[in-house]
Amino acid sequence: MEKRKNISMAVIKRLPKYHRYLNEIMKNDIDRISSKELSEKIGFTASQIRQDLNCFGDFGQQGYGYNVKALYNEISNILGLNKSYKSVIIGAGNIGQAIANYTQFTRLGVSIDGIFDANPKLLGIKIKDVEIQDIDELEKFLSENYIDIGIICVPKINAQKVCNKLVKNGVKGIWNFAPVDLSVPEDVTVENVHLSESMLTLIYLLNEKSEQ
Ligand code: NAI
Repeated sequence: MEKRKNISMAVIKRLPKYHRYLNEIMKNDIDRISSKELSEKIGFTASQIRQDLNCFGDFGQQGYGYNVKALYNEISNILGLNKSYKSVIIGAGNIGQAIANYTQFTRLGVSIDGIFDANPKLLGIKIKDVEIQDIDELEKFLSENYIDIGIICVPKINAQKVCNKLVKNGVKGIWNFAPVDLSVPEDVTVENVHLSESMLTLIYLLNEKSEQ
């Protein structure tokens, strides 16, 4: 599978959905699947699926469909799930604690290795065996532990400051929940998660349907 260059963002954004559905399909003991059957399950057109998967090499065999397990494994590799990732959560409030309590990230190979907060009342509390530490300990922790991902769950006014600390200490991936556009060097990747934007899309579509 060598065709990996210049993959469009649109294709990359669809890969997690392929990954999730193929996992479901595997659980149902289905070994092979055609792009048409996959299309009925996932909701992308069959030609879209063939085009997407073709970006990464020849997965399917004409007339035989895709080998589900091989495709699942390959998409896992493309997504980088053949490795493990260490992360820290900054901000142990509502969102930070919800993420720390969510166990499914371990399935993706992402471990929560540290949780940091500025509120003295939270220090020492354990979430899934990880103790909340003082934010002042963050830089020391990062210098002693290689951390891939920083998960920012602080109020927006403090988000850039926290981000700078992470970046300065070698963290290359930022999962940002604060409603602010972070500025980072080119070698750092930020993925923003904004539930409100998703809610606004829902509200728009809800109104659009009710007006029809
Ligand atoms: P929260 O107030 O429950 O928690 C924030 C935590 O950050 C507190 O425990 C506070 O002590 C800590 N904190 C503040 N400054 C800090 C610093 N400099 N270093 C370390 N810890 C610090 O807030 P909540 O509800 O968890 O929201 C957190 C962030 O997530 C906010 O920016 C909020 O706007 C955002 N948010 C994002 C959502 C999304 O969909 N992306 C949804 C809800 C909230």
